[in-house]
Amino acid sequence: MGYLLSTENFVKIGEFIYRKSGIHLEEDKHYEKLAKYVEQRSSKLEFDTFRKYFFKLRFDDKSGLEFQELMNAVTVNETYFFREKDQFEVLANNILAELHASIKSDRPIRILSAPCSTGEEPYSIVLHILEERNIVQKRDIEVVGIDIDSTVIKKAKDAKYSERAIHAIPKNILGKWFVKKGLDYSLRDDLLDSVDFQVANVFDKVQMRKLGKFDVIFSRNMLIYFDDASRKEVAMTFYDMLNPDGYVLLGHAEYMSRIVSVFNAKKIENTLIYQK
Ligand SMILES: C[S@@+](CC[C@H](N)C(=O)[O-])C[C@H]1O[C@@H](n2cnc3c(N)ncnc32)[C@H](O)[C@@H]1O
Repeated sequence: MGYLLSTENFVKIGEFIYRKSGIHLEEDKHYEKLAKYVEQRSSKLEFDTFRKYFFKLRFDDKSGLEFQELMNAVTVNETYFFREKDQFEVLANNILAELHASIKSDRPIRILSAPCSTGEEPYSIVLHILEERNIVQKRDIEVVGIDIDSTVIKKAKDAKYSERAIHAIPKNILGKWFVKKGLDYSLRDDLLDSVDFQVANVFDKVQMRKLGKFDVIFSRNMLIYFDDASRKEVAMTFYDMLNPDGYVLLGHAEYMSRIVSVFNAKKIENTLIYQK
């Protein structure tokens, strides 16, 4: 039998999670899940108090494993292929042509999916680029996917998906790029290297700098878990990571104008995009 996470300790660990990852946990919604996790993890480490676990997390975690385990437990990874698909269409039909015309052909066009969860978003980007066909034949396009949760990055690399994940893909596209194995749909082997997946935290400036500069950043359905100060910080990080005239695309419930004023909002068809 473990110990119960007190309200005071929930606040302590909640503040730690917020400071490190921007994820804001609320006691009425997240207490149970976090208390269960802390108890199970402490028991595995043979710690009988919260103090011992919290000490390890903060001061005795050189490898970062303890922090990684905690992140893997608290993230919400909901995603699916072709989610909010108008944005992928605008990318393939409008943005890419514009970037192709304005960026010298000797360097790749670079696209970041931050966060990518289990890979559906960056692979949807790849599938739209391949289906558009025109630009990909003329130049290199690099797609990078990052997420703070290492379990989702592993799944993204495996690229094996359930019926739920692929439900929105039109049948002709599904048949072309996936192989059905039992109940799962596996992405074709030749597409497995089409995305460079990495575990990374958008608040970690060193990790973000290492990723280099991008022409397009998709950041959908992550900022909703942050508070205003964290959203602002991440928006400015993306601004710094973009090449001149580069674009950011947010989730449908997220608006850059409510976060920072450094981007110019543009509407293509019914899709809002933000230009540096
Ligand atoms: C709901 S999913 C969104 C996935 C995809 N972009 C989509 O819209 O379908 C949110 C993801 O944000 C990731 N995340 C949360 N905080 C993060 C951070 N600080 N850095 C990187 N990824 C983070 C979570 O691990 C989770 O996989």
